[in-house]
Amino acid sequence: MKIGIVGAGQLAQMLALAAIPIGIEVLCLAEDNTKPAATVTDIFIGELNSPQKLHEFAEHVDVITYENENIPVDAIRSLAEIVPVYPSIKALQTTQDRLLEKQLFDRLNIPTVKYAAIDSMADLQQASEHIGLPAVLKTRRFGYDGKGQYRLANEDDCQSAWKTLGEHPLIFENFIAFETEVSLISARDQLGNTHYYPLIENMHKDGILRLSYAPWQNNTLQAQAERYAQRLLDELDYIGVMTIEFFVVNNQLLANEIAPRVHNSGHWTINGAATSQFENHVRAISNLALGQTGCLAPSAMINMIGELNDRDEVLKIPNAHFYDYAKSPRPNRKLGHINLVDHDKKRLQASIDKIQTIKC
Ligand SMILES: Nc1ncnc2c1ncn2[C@@H]1O[C@H](COP(=O)(O)OP(=O)(O)OP(=O)(O)O)[C@@H](O)[C@H]1O
Ligand SMILES: [Mg+2]
Repeated sequence: MKIGIVGAGQLAQMLALAAIPIGIEVLCLAEDNTKPAATVTDIFIGELNSPQKLHEFAEHVDVITYENENIPVDAIRSLAEIVPVYPSIKALQTTQDRLLEKQLFDRLNIPTVKYAAIDSMADLQQASEHIGLPAVLKTRRFGYDGKGQYRLANEDDCQSAWKTLGEHPLIFENFIAFETEVSLISARDQLGNTHYYPLIENMHKDGILRLSYAPWQNNTLQAQAERYAQRLLDELDYIGVMTIEFFVVNNQLLANEIAPRVHNSGHWTINGAATSQFENHVRAISNLALGQTGCLAPSAMINMIGELNDRDEVLKIPNAHFYDYAKSPRPNRKLGHINLVDHDKKRLQASIDKIQTIKC
């Protein structure tokens, strides 16, 4: 069994690292040999806009998945003519456009933010009157790590936001003064069996995820999140791992977005869960039974952004695990992460605090 991954970033690298021990081979499609996954698996060099190369790639593998939703649907559809592609094209198409995603939330009765499609300055003015300010203006497509977003505090911001983003199809969202943010990671196999990880609490700064903590214990909201996920998985004929990001407001969940893939907030599962999100995605797309998704002990994940913390110092912390994606440093770039797992919550918090003091 050989799986093909479109892309060779850190998510592909961690998928490959989970596949190898269970006897599954991996081939990643990328433009060159310098990406993180190249440190652990074979790369098929080619571009998504080359039908010839895509065809060749598909002939080398038994099943295809992707590590990023910002890829052309047509290219993936051409691959799907040759080998199965999971998650479904429907899932890819919906999750790469924030408007389609929010319309799907509405159709499935999953509460989300108030929103409006924005294609002109007039639309923007209307939305700011009807939905109100503060708000966030976002590109419908290609956003990640808070990129392509503009916070609107008052009417005056609308002009400059339009100048900055107006050339793209946009979505206007009311600004949510959330209590916290959580995510739910689900895995569904080819027989329709579904497993859910415990809710994860996520802390962002400047639109980029910094820290995740699991489990976020709230039985009512866990059950609610699982019901929402089940509706999405059914509607999208989903196979593989799927993540939903939520805002928590007034002890209710408001869906923010879906990622049709393993997610940064689930990296702790490598050390803190019975089966990692990466292994479960590999199992699901390879038609294997899923592994248990329970939390082994309270866990945290800290992203290393822009620069890596001193590895030797980090590894002196009991129960710390260091992940270096082998990427060249650049401001705001995710270069690696640290996982911490500890039965003692106080000690876990002390380890999180200690990491902040370790220099880069
Ligand atoms: N409507 C909103 N109200 C309040 N905060 C928001 C809103 N939309 C986004 N944010 C903040 O910005 C963060 C990033 O936004 P979002 O998840 O929509 O974009 P993204 O670029 O896809 O992020 P990521 O790649 O981290 O998932 C959110 O996690 C949240 O902290
Ligand atoms: Mg997000």
